[in-house]
Amino acid sequence: MNKNYIIPNEWSLIEDVFDDENVKASESLFSIGNGAMGQRANFEENYSGATFQGSYIGGIYYPDKTRVGWWKNGYPEYFAKVLNAPNWIGIHIKINETELDLNTCKVSNFKRELNMKEGWLSRSFVAQLTSGDKIEVHTKRFISIDSNETGAIEYHIKALNFSGEITFSPYVDAGIVNEDSNYDEYFWEILEIIEGENSGCILSKTLKTEFHVSTAMQVAFALNSKEITLSQQTKVEDKKLTYTYKVSVNEGDTASIYKYASYTSSLNYKIEDLNAAALSNVENANKLGFEALLNTQIKSWEKIWSTADIVIEGDVKAQQGIRFNIFQLNQTYLGTDARLNIGPKGFTGEKYGGSTYWDTEAYCIPFYMATKDANVAKNLLMYRYNQLGKAIENAEKLGFTNGAALYPMVTMNGEECHNEWEITFEEIHRNGAMVYGIYNYVNYTQDFEYVVKNGLEVIIAIARFWHQRANFSEAKDKYVILGVTGPNEYENNVNNNFYTNYLAKWCIEYAVECLNKVKHNYPEDFERVISKTNLKAQETYKWLEVSDNMYFPFDEEKNVYLQQDGFLDKELIPVKKLDKSQRPINQKWSWDRILRSCYIKQADVLQGMFFFEDKFSKDELKRHFDFYEPLTVHESSLSPCVHSILAASIDRMPKAYEQYLRTARLDLDDYNHEVHEGCHITSMAGTWMSVVQGFGGMRVYEDGMLSFNPQIPQEWKSYSFTINFRGTIIKVFKSQTTCKFFNESGNQIKMFVNDKEVLLPSKEFVKL
Ligand code: BGC
Repeated sequence: MNKNYIIPNEWSLIEDVFDDENVKASESLFSIGNGAMGQRANFEENYSGATFQGSYIGGIYYPDKTRVGWWKNGYPEYFAKVLNAPNWIGIHIKINETELDLNTCKVSNFKRELNMKEGWLSRSFVAQLTSGDKIEVHTKRFISIDSNETGAIEYHIKALNFSGEITFSPYVDAGIVNEDSNYDEYFWEILEIIEGENSGCILSKTLKTEFHVSTAMQVAFALNSKEITLSQQTKVEDKKLTYTYKVSVNEGDTASIYKYASYTSSLNYKIEDLNAAALSNVENANKLGFEALLNTQIKSWEKIWSTADIVIEGDVKAQQGIRFNIFQLNQTYLGTDARLNIGPKGFTGEKYGGSTYWDTEAYCIPFYMATKDANVAKNLLMYRYNQLGKAIENAEKLGFTNGAALYPMVTMNGEECHNEWEITFEEIHRNGAMVYGIYNYVNYTQDFEYVVKNGLEVIIAIARFWHQRANFSEAKDKYVILGVTGPNEYENNVNNNFYTNYLAKWCIEYAVECLNKVKHNYPEDFERVISKTNLKAQETYKWLEVSDNMYFPFDEEKNVYLQQDGFLDKELIPVKKLDKSQRPINQKWSWDRILRSCYIKQADVLQGMFFFEDKFSKDELKRHFDFYEPLTVHESSLSPCVHSILAASIDRMPKAYEQYLRTARLDLDDYNHEVHEGCHITSMAGTWMSVVQGFGGMRVYEDGMLSFNPQIPQEWKSYSFTINFRGTIIKVFKSQTTCKFFNESGNQIKMFVNDKEVLLPSKEFVKL
């Protein structure tokens, strides 16, 4: 694949040469979605070259049987994966009997644009077919944010050098497969195909999970911009519904098809209503027309950008990078449905099975909290609350008792879907992230009611887990946590991972703090939760015995916490001494060599210091940064953002900027050589944090005060961002010479800037 082929532009991704080597990468990068569904940027017309077809519906998955060489008790019986859903974009096109296929014709003037400001994808090109006929094509499509079950396409073909016939064959195809499945079965069973005049649908259901989905289409036509009706031929195959229309054109004429489509699913409708709902969606879309739908789309995106945009002056690539991240996050999750979550690839690919990871709590919540209203982040928390029962069952399966919960490393519906023992059983730090997510939310929003009504049950169940998972070491006279994998997955089965032990201790302390607060301020709720969880005061004393006496590996000489017991036995050779040919080590080295090495996949000790920065002095942060950063290979997309933020907080702006560049254009410049598989959606929230918390220095201290410490990379003229802080909309602007704050809301707000208290009156600027 060619790198760096995306043209720098402030608001759009633009590709201006057709290169079959880039097709799969562009299919990922130019993906579109609306939080409820999304799809890769596959071509509408047939394409016989290498392509990765994907269209996904949030919450629709398939549970595949876990297959491993050596079964270990406690493995999940199945792992869920996101399913490629019926294709609704397809339109076969023939020009006088020759099929349009960019893989076989001469393509010129190719341009593809993903307009992030307005939320649409377009493509234009001139194609000379094998027959010699030449056409000019302009297409545009989008998935509606406003009516979130609907998508629309316009497709115009101009006859450049011929008079003759253009054939449009729009279709819905439920005979689709997943790219990475290692079995030959189809996941969808077709139940009904309804044909009508210019509209129709396929009702299908997923095997095993029995999610029912109706996929509908409706089409309309124009010749030289005037609406026309065409006669229709219908072809119904096993799993596909195709309509064929022929239109006669003279040289210079433009024939157009408008295709409206809809997915309705049994997550939201009774099965018997699905077809009618999908058909009614496409009928309404057709009545409104493409332009009207597009105008609504533009308005919806304007609203999203009004609280989410980050403006960077003086560096177009940085501007494009950050907007791409914000755009993709919004395409993946809009927070209206607590059953949905954020898969590491969003709707842009199949890797990671579309499932939920600790990424949500550790990385994504801050973005959604600060760019939307509090309900959105709350829905992410409710997702886990609703899965508490399954997390308790999961812990029971592993031998825990008394309502202890272990949230899964990977999940769709609350059940664990990961089947590598060193992660499934050992990467238990994810449990701490669940509580950290709640803490972060409450601290930012001050919505303690969430803890009272829901969160406390989760917090108790997780405290119980840590209490049981730690054991007393006579030798150390402390509690230890053995046999874990920390965030650094390049180490397995280690003892006393600093990050895990720290989180465990903190989770217990936070649980006791929340219990006390609820007991005093919400006595009725306290009684309810206590009786539901059967919690006695004595039990919490036992928890505290563990948290008060937790062991942390520490080296006196280096004056640093060690990532785990024995870390210093490793040969400590800094990453910069590794030859470039050896990187990324996960593609170049055997797993055995990786495990023995000192190389750290992603922030681990530093992840803990990032979460709990205020518990460490600046000197401590610097010491640990200087020890761990040189050993970190950042082979997880989640890593550079944490290092960037920490570097900014210890006044190392050049380092912060270097790490920022790695995170901001990770996919656009394909740093990890894998963008064809999909984009790294969850780490995009980390990129946002790198600007707002890193350069902007935004923090919310435990006393609830908002604080900023803005710095700016030398390479930028200025940057600005907006945050929604408890309903107050604050705009922060920082240039090389000034720093300004604007309060867009009706109430004043007190905050700290560079450690000084500042009053920001309503609708006023404060310049510092
Ligand atoms: C990282 C995990 C992360 C997962 C999904 C892995 O490569 O090591 O921390 O949860 O990707 O993003």
